[in-house]
Amino acid sequence: MKLMNYQVVFAKHPGVNGSPAEDNFRYESCEYPADPAAGHVLVQNLYLSVDPAQRCQMNEASGADYLLPWRLDEPVPGLGGVGKVLSSNHADFRSGDVVMSGFFEWPWRLYFSIDASKIMKVDERLVGKRLSLPISCLGLVGLTALFGITERSKLRELKTDGSTKRTLVVSGAAGACGHLAGQIGRLEGADLVVGICGSAAKCRFLTAEAGFDAAVNYRTEDVAARLAELCPHGVHSYFDNVGGAVSDAVIGQMVPGSAIVLCGQISTYNTDAPYPPPLKPEVQQIVTERGISRERYLVLEYQDKFADGVTRLAHWLNAGALKVFETVEDGLENAGKAFCSMMSGGNVGKQLVKVSDA
Ligand SMILES: NC(=O)c1ccc[n+]([C@@H]2O[C@H](COP(=O)([O-])OP(=O)(O)OC[C@H]3O[C@@H](n4cnc5c(N)ncnc54)[C@H](OP(=O)(O)O)[C@@H]3O)[C@@H](O)[C@H]2O)c1
Repeated sequence: MKLMNYQVVFAKHPGVNGSPAEDNFRYESCEYPADPAAGHVLVQNLYLSVDPAQRCQMNEASGADYLLPWRLDEPVPGLGGVGKVLSSNHADFRSGDVVMSGFFEWPWRLYFSIDASKIMKVDERLVGKRLSLPISCLGLVGLTALFGITERSKLRELKTDGSTKRTLVVSGAAGACGHLAGQIGRLEGADLVVGICGSAAKCRFLTAEAGFDAAVNYRTEDVAARLAELCPHGVHSYFDNVGGAVSDAVIGQMVPGSAIVLCGQISTYNTDAPYPPPLKPEVQQIVTERGISRERYLVLEYQDKFADGVTRLAHWLNAGALKVFETVEDGLENAGKAFCSMMSGGNVGKQLVKVSDA
């Protein structure tokens, strides 16, 4: 019997200054892979990650040397995912193993053959039955939040007198990295954690479920004025996922010697702005005069600490100190839709696509 296979291909560029749309993607049948060649394994896709960084891969040039541009009419190469090994031609993997992407390749296909050096075994003792966790927390997303806070936020370094509340502000706070960064910031010494996000429902999520002290809706509220009320001692650390006007408003509230974790600038991803985009002169002047640190942050700089980081995240998860939220879209055919939805704020926590059952 002929086995069926399916894939999502990149069908159309959105244009450098265009928002991604569902018709940029096409779902189609394709060949079932041949038996894996030496050093390869055959994988059944279980979960896909959709990530803001993929927006730059939709341009002719991605602007990042570790991310190649997608090619028209070819399957989307993907970034992250979890799958099950169906057959293996590599000594380290066996049929039935649960595996995840190593770095930056996880095809948007139901079944695929992949070089074993590009995948890693999932430690099933850490994830239990929640096989999406390597994408939503125990992988690059959780590590980005963790090292952003521990290596870049200065939360532990900042000297404050006993009466000053050490204040962390997170933008993109209800998203994958953001909701974890706020919680980890609290575990790492923040006395007051304020999130900024794009809807009233997300504000409620942050304060009722993700342990934030307060939340600001940047679409309906004056961010600078609200932060001035909510952060009476100023802002000591800012975990920045979005950039643009939201960040300009936060920077105005930051105290001398404070730190910006320059995690991402999603508000500029549908434009041809360079990364990181330069600040407006008057905002740059605040950064300079107050000695605020704002260096580019890339989680890959901390690869030597990844194993310890995953252990730390898993420990917090198992102890109930860290909660992970996900928005799951069903079906490989909806991967493009899930990506577009995430880019325009449709997700709470990590946006995933469930491709098949284990
Ligand atoms: N530095 C690193 O190593 C690293 C690693 C991973 C990710 N990142 C970056 O981290 C950031 C968050 O990534 P993620 O995977 O956690 O995505 P995410 O936050 O789960 O999803 C993206 C969110 O961005 C918000 N957004 C979209 N357009 C916006 C705009 N114009 N202004 C303000 N907010 C906007 C939306 O939330 P709202 O409803 O609140 O608008 C949306 O839910 C991205 O900038 C990404 O590039 C960096």
